[in-house]
Amino acid sequence: MLRFRVLGRLHVEPEPPQFVMLWVPGLEAIPMSIAGYDPSDEVLEFLVKPVGSTTSKLAEARAPEYMGVYGPLGKPWYPSGRRILFLAGGSGVAPILHFARKRCNGRLCHVVFGAWRFDEVGEIPSLLSSLGVSVTTACLDEGCDIKGTLVDAYKTLSVEEYDEIVVSGPIEVLRKIAVERKQGIRHYYILEAIVKCGIGLCSSCRLPGTSLLLCVDGPLFPHHLVEEVLLEA
Ligand SMILES: Cc1cc2nc3c(=O)[nH]c(=O)nc-3n(C[C@H](O)[C@H](O)[C@H](O)COP(=O)(O)OP(=O)(O)OC[C@H]3O[C@@H](n4cnc5c(N)ncnc54)[C@H](O)[C@@H]3O)c2cc1C
Ligand code: FES
Repeated sequence: MLRFRVLGRLHVEPEPPQFVMLWVPGLEAIPMSIAGYDPSDEVLEFLVKPVGSTTSKLAEARAPEYMGVYGPLGKPWYPSGRRILFLAGGSGVAPILHFARKRCNGRLCHVVFGAWRFDEVGEIPSLLSSLGVSVTTACLDEGCDIKGTLVDAYKTLSVEEYDEIVVSGPIEVLRKIAVERKQGIRHYYILEAIVKCGIGLCSSCRLPGTSLLLCVDGPLFPHHLVEEVLLEA
């Protein structure tokens, strides 16, 4: 996973967990979560996991000099609770970094960051700690605080200590946590879908079996709105 910055003026300050469409010349425009934005120098920060041609291009050491950015897209989310637990896997941690910067002041925020292997954990925990957030790492080999998956971490931790839980990462993790969900705590999920227009026109991001469009109604959804989507995933 690679962290990179883009100088780009947005017409409004982005709020977590909003995203932008990032267009790489010669390739396509892809949705990318905003991991940070500094209004003083108009620098946007992203985390990219290379999975195909556009994300691999972004992850190259010599990234393109020019990119198209439009956004912010999607709906901001404002937590109502004071104690928030974030469970984030892989590049799903990008919007959580933005949350940590903008919403964790005066709140008790804890992030469990999951990776397959310890050598994939990288700088994320220290970055989150520098933002004043406490962090637990989870991976399948030795070296992390918890040996296991994010779902194992969810089962092990005293999640009832939190008012709200936000899960962001691979759909399989979201689905398993929806199945294991402990009652009495508000659960939210940051989903992914195929985003093309990003503004509610093309329906490519419609969540199956619902009228919800990820690009305008999400990407964060409360449990009751997406329970069926997750259980069918
Ligand atoms: C709201 C949102 C935020 C995202 N934030 C990040 C992020 O911060 N960092 C990150 O690394 N990735 C993020 N992604 C995923 C990223 O957009 C895809 O990995 C990327 O589009 C893949 O493009 P590619 O050309 O590299 O690979 P491709 O070979 O084109 O596709 C690889 C896989 O990526 C998915 N994908 C392809 N096109 C899209 C699309 N237009 N929209 C969504 N998924 C697609 C499909 O599952 C496909 O199988 C986000 C996706 C969404 C919907
Ligand atoms: S991406 Fe076109 S409607 Fe959401």
